[in-house]
Amino acid sequence: MRRLAVIGHPVSHSLSPAIHNAAFEELGLAGEWRYEALDLTPEAFAAGVRALPAEGFVGANATIPHKLAALELADEASEAATRIGAANTLSFAPERIRADNTDAEGFLAAMGSPPAGRRALVLGAGGSARAVVWALVEAGAEVSIWNRTQPKAEELADRFGARALGTGDAAPESDFDLIVNTTSVGMPAPGDASTLSPTEETRPENATTFNQLPITADSFHDRQIVVDLVYRVGGTELLRIARSRGAAVVDGLEVLVRQGAASFRIWTGLEPPIEAMRRAATLQERQT
Ligand code: ATR
Repeated sequence: MRRLAVIGHPVSHSLSPAIHNAAFEELGLAGEWRYEALDLTPEAFAAGVRALPAEGFVGANATIPHKLAALELADEASEAATRIGAANTLSFAPERIRADNTDAEGFLAAMGSPPAGRRALVLGAGGSARAVVWALVEAGAEVSIWNRTQPKAEELADRFGARALGTGDAAPESDFDLIVNTTSVGMPAPGDASTLSPTEETRPENATTFNQLPITADSFHDRQIVVDLVYRVGGTELLRIARSRGAAVVDGLEVLVRQGAASFRIWTGLEPPIEAMRRAATLQERQT
């Protein structure tokens, strides 16, 4: 049995075991490969990872809060992982650990069409924004970054050759061909089903504003792609409104599936069965 795992803290909500085990089922490999969830505290992470090969593990995904530590403990790293400064995929060779970052590749694959020449607005400047900004700049997009805490946007922009927008700037979002939300604003908080809700009660429909984000609904249009890394059953408000204005939308579940598919390819050398992985992710998300 070749074992794989997602390592996080906490990790119980992770959809990755369902996604990867569905892929192994689909390919008739469930008897040979198994993907598990492992909860390791930051203190236990490095020693825990180093012990894995002896237990039959051939690789692992690292998720929050371990992506930086995963890069640090590796003996070698891909260009993506090095440039982004974080790794989400580890592969164990005898005596060596290799680090990759498939978040960038997964994001580009989820979007479908190449972003070269597009004007992109990235909302947020945290961990997931780094992979997105690097992917977009590498792929030839012209990237602007907005973040609630502006110095972080400037730091990210400097690092990757993007432009930082001021927090006071009314982002002329209709000018952008691509808008990517990497902030956690749309995440469901416990007991709150509408963290990212347009203030429809107080504003006319054509001026709907998203709480806490510098975007208004009326500026979305049908030549735009809008990506929300946040995912939730039924979709986020941001994507619902963008779609209603004719924009093409990509949700966080698709990005998650695609980064998983890229990791799967690294570990197995096989073509990942995307449709089966997407089905499993959707089903599992509905059940949690
Ligand atoms: P991740 O790894 O998911 O990117 P992170 O590194 O904690 O998580 O980054 C979270 C991002 O969401 C940041 O850009 C954060 O903005 P700040 O840098 O100002 O903290 C953004 N964010 C979180 N809550 C937010 C809110 N209520 N309004 C706007 N942005 C928010």
